[in-house]
Amino acid sequence: MRVVVLGATGHIGSWLVPRLVRDGHSVAAVSRGVRRPYHDAGEWRVVEHVIFDRDQAERDGTYGGRVAALDPDIVIDLICFEPRTARQLVEALRGRVDLLLHCGTLWVHGVPRSCPYDEHAAREPFGDYGIRKAEIERYLLDEAQAGFPAAILHPGHISGPGWAPINPAGNLDIRVFETLARGEVLSLPNDGGARLQHVHADDVAQAFALAVANRDQVVGEAFHVAAREPVTMRDYAEGAARWFGKEARLEFVPFDEWAARVPPESAATTRDHVLHSPCASIEKLCARIGFAPRYTAVGAAEDAVRWLMSSGHLSASTQSP
Ligand SMILES: NC(=O)c1ccc[n+]([C@@H]2O[C@H](COP(=O)([O-])OP(=O)(O)OC[C@H]3O[C@@H](n4cnc5c(N)ncnc54)[C@H](OP(=O)(O)O)[C@@H]3O)[C@@H](O)[C@H]2O)c1
Repeated sequence: MRVVVLGATGHIGSWLVPRLVRDGHSVAAVSRGVRRPYHDAGEWRVVEHVIFDRDQAERDGTYGGRVAALDPDIVIDLICFEPRTARQLVEALRGRVDLLLHCGTLWVHGVPRSCPYDEHAAREPFGDYGIRKAEIERYLLDEAQAGFPAAILHPGHISGPGWAPINPAGNLDIRVFETLARGEVLSLPNDGGARLQHVHADDVAQAFALAVANRDQVVGEAFHVAAREPVTMRDYAEGAARWFGKEARLEFVPFDEWAARVPPESAATTRDHVLHSPCASIEKLCARIGFAPRYTAVGAAEDAVRWLMSSGHLSASTQSP
């Protein structure tokens, strides 16, 4: 199959493109050519690199046409954040592709009403990002009802070697890991019971590759892609401290008081994660196409932190014994 991956050199694409090559597909990898993949897999040598800026192409109305001109059987869109972008793509690909796989997010669910929740749970997103992703999902599922071959995969917090994972306090400040590594007291918001649900980037790639291989099982459907279980901030902090041979020393602080102690961007990110407190079931993806995540939520984060240590992003005093 000829597979076009839009946004091919980021967290997901770095793992997905080599998988697709190994599965025997001819892959065109679209990006602006600014970023390199997170790791140098040999498979990239046989990939066609296609350089263009989606935003620019969208502005001049050539986006859908440029993707269609690549003559794909399957398009995997990892960088769609606006309903108008999805519409441009669908109009250009109508009648020409076997599958359009869109990358969504667990944030389409908003504040969860149950734990776990499945893909049928009501969509009650908040915040521009989640609202737009839910709108794109609705649009694509409606199009699928009308015969267009679309499917959606909704990842949790994507983690892996090459970038910082969401930490046990629900933000991206890597000093949280240093605090745990030194055995110092870490403050968590409220009772530390908010949930996080990481997913390793290679597990996300596994899900997309399985969807490509099982087109008939996924068309017209949305699926969660995450670690099997979420983890509470508290349990994650305890697990992370053990990576460094320490017992976590935790204190629990009401959210507003906690937020006043950390940088505003960390407070905002944590607030977003506390509110979403994901608890997504992945049973549908496992049952339909055999998805089997290799990483737990904490395991996915650990792989990222091992990279932070080996690449010198975490200070030497945090090296595990
Ligand atoms: N991060 C998370 O934890 C998370 C969680 C749930 C869902 N998601 C979803 O995951 C998707 C993002 O995937 P990712 O994390 O793999 O992305 P990423 O790491 O941000 O990588 C983005 C990719 O797109 C390319 N790109 C960016 N802007 C572009 C443009 N204007 N035109 C063409 N190419 C462009 C980048 O390369 P260049 O810079 O070289 O162009 C890169 O290859 C999104 O749909 C997001 O909603 C992410």
